[in-house]
Amino acid sequence: MADIDFTAQTTIVTGASSGIGAAFARALAKRGSDVILVARRLDRLRELANELERDHGVRATPIALDLSRRGAGQALAGEVAARGLTVTGLVNNAGFGTDGPFHEEDPDRLQDEIAVDVANLVDISRAFIEPLRQEGRGILVNVASVAAYAPSPDMAVYAACKAFVLSFTEALWFESRSSGLRVLSLAPGLTRTEFFDDLSGGAYNGSYQTPEQVVETGMRSLDRGNRRPSIVSGRGNALAAGLGRFFTRRSAVLLSGSFGARSRDTGAAGRAGANRM
Ligand SMILES: NC(=O)c1ccc[n+]([C@@H]2O[C@H](COP(=O)([O-])OP(=O)(O)OC[C@H]3O[C@@H](n4cnc5c(N)ncnc54)[C@H](OP(=O)(O)O)[C@@H]3O)[C@@H](O)[C@H]2O)c1
Repeated sequence: MADIDFTAQTTIVTGASSGIGAAFARALAKRGSDVILVARRLDRLRELANELERDHGVRATPIALDLSRRGAGQALAGEVAARGLTVTGLVNNAGFGTDGPFHEEDPDRLQDEIAVDVANLVDISRAFIEPLRQEGRGILVNVASVAAYAPSPDMAVYAACKAFVLSFTEALWFESRSSGLRVLSLAPGLTRTEFFDDLSGGAYNGSYQTPEQVVETGMRSLDRGNRRPSIVSGRGNALAAGLGRFFTRRSAVLLSGSFGARSRDTGAAGRAGANRM
């Protein structure tokens, strides 16, 4: 199957001001897609837009939006329409994690996490799914996590959010099969980004991928057609994600909980963070 032709396409990338989102925007622009860059830090988005227009001759449009606010789908659709743009693709990548025992977590921050990682991912998908299906030549990528594949004590809400993203996206994959739209849940494992700046416990021990490796995994899968609804980036991560099916639910959560704790407390757990993020 031929690689996707991104020329004459316009793809929204949320969370494009850093990390995996910025890498997605660069990869798409390199392939000829115009891009709409969404996040809160407009200075970063503008800088990236200038880089992409200069290096790849595409149109790059920065849009500042706080995705923790209700109704981001309509807000973004309004901004896009006001600029006269037609969207053919969407990468729902914006997200952040919270950590620590659930009973100690800040309730407001948890609500923001659910809004960014889940509620507005759904709202933005809903706002654009019809044009995406009608165009039928682009991509809908939702960035999940290897944490989607097992419950994660001390990241209980984050992992549950990502499990939602995985399940939701796989269902959309099925619904979109006849439309030409390629739908994919992309699950990174530990990836070297600003993600860990937000976590009270800091980074995990383990082996990290670069954002570019994660994006490459996603793009390769999409280029192969609409064959799979979901993919995990990195062999070790894929192995960790797949292990769950060999355990009872009880064993899986016991393992996940003890690996997660070891990967931070001892500082010597090697790949123990592999089931995290
Ligand atoms: N890094 C990892 O190990 C890892 C592993 C698995 C999954 N992931 C997932 O990968 C995705 C990208 O994360 P990353 O690793 O690239 O982290 P990152 O460098 O911290 O990037 C997160 C992006 O999300 C945006 N964002 C966060 N809150 C937002 C809000 N309220 N409104 C709008 N945009 C918001 C940030 O932009 P602003 O701050 O400018 O708004 C930023 O562009 C996330 O969904 C994350 O859960 C990451």
